[in-house]
Amino acid sequence: MKSTAPGKIILFGEHSVVYNRPALAVPVNQVQAEVDVCESDQPGVWIDAPDIDLHSDLSSLPHDHPIGSVILRVFRHFDIFHRPDLTITVHSTIPVASGLGSGAAVSVALTRALAEFLGRPMTQEQINSLVFEIEKIHHGTPSGIDNTVITYNMPVYYIREQPIETFKCGQPFTIVIGDTGIPAPTKEAVGDVRRLWLRNTSYIEEIFDEIAQIALIARRSIESGRPELLGELMGHNHQYLQQLSVSSPELDVLVAAAQKAGALGAKLSGGGRGGNMIALVDPASAESVAAALISAGAKRAIITKIN
Ligand code: PMV
Repeated sequence: MKSTAPGKIILFGEHSVVYNRPALAVPVNQVQAEVDVCESDQPGVWIDAPDIDLHSDLSSLPHDHPIGSVILRVFRHFDIFHRPDLTITVHSTIPVASGLGSGAAVSVALTRALAEFLGRPMTQEQINSLVFEIEKIHHGTPSGIDNTVITYNMPVYYIREQPIETFKCGQPFTIVIGDTGIPAPTKEAVGDVRRLWLRNTSYIEEIFDEIAQIALIARRSIESGRPELLGELMGHNHQYLQQLSVSSPELDVLVAAAQKAGALGAKLSGGGRGGNMIALVDPASAESVAAALISAGAKRAIITKIN
């Protein structure tokens, strides 16, 4: 039984989403996690994840192992005590720890494949909430946006603890994702924003409100088929993220390089400090913007069409 799940990027609203403001995220289908669950002749649940050099029996893994914990949760969800003999193969082309949602994508694909193998397919809602529980183990207090956009594999307008709103693009648009290659612990950036917020609540709340407006206008622009308007919004959102202290010299250099190479707008995406930035481009200039990002120090540039 095979299942796949995409990567993701946050277009607008990272950080303020933690404070109940809206954020927009979209799936990135150019990169994928793929999980295959099949019956096995050898006893036990065997996990084969060659990309991370993991070849192990479930019972030898620590309980909070990112893959093992998903399998255990699925068994618990169905009250399965006698585990079947299985081989689970995990492959992923989503770069690890770079804000593209690799962990959530593996969890979603694994949950779906295992549930279907067990003959008990789960609803999107069930998968989403199971994977959110897993995200909490590994990321502290995540907003839940990653698991949501990856589970539904559609653009999401996300507000914490509110019913999920997916939406459609009126027109496809092209984004170039540039990776600083700098590991970015989201927890730390979220903690620093919290300290700023505690010190100067009303000022930071105003910034969150401005970003919320941007996310709302961005959603309307995407839905109504005017994605070119996103460029300017990205510039504004990036400036607010700078004020929240979550940009970095490397991210700012890549944002400037994208703009110089003809992008319609650019901003950091995700937790910040390192990780990724994104640029809105005309399809015709996607390759040259990607090349400019690499020349400016990006470790990787992915061109993705959002539709
Ligand atoms: O670093 P990423 O792509 O997982 O995004 C983090 C987004 C934050 O808003 C900073 C945190 C969150 O949980 O939403």
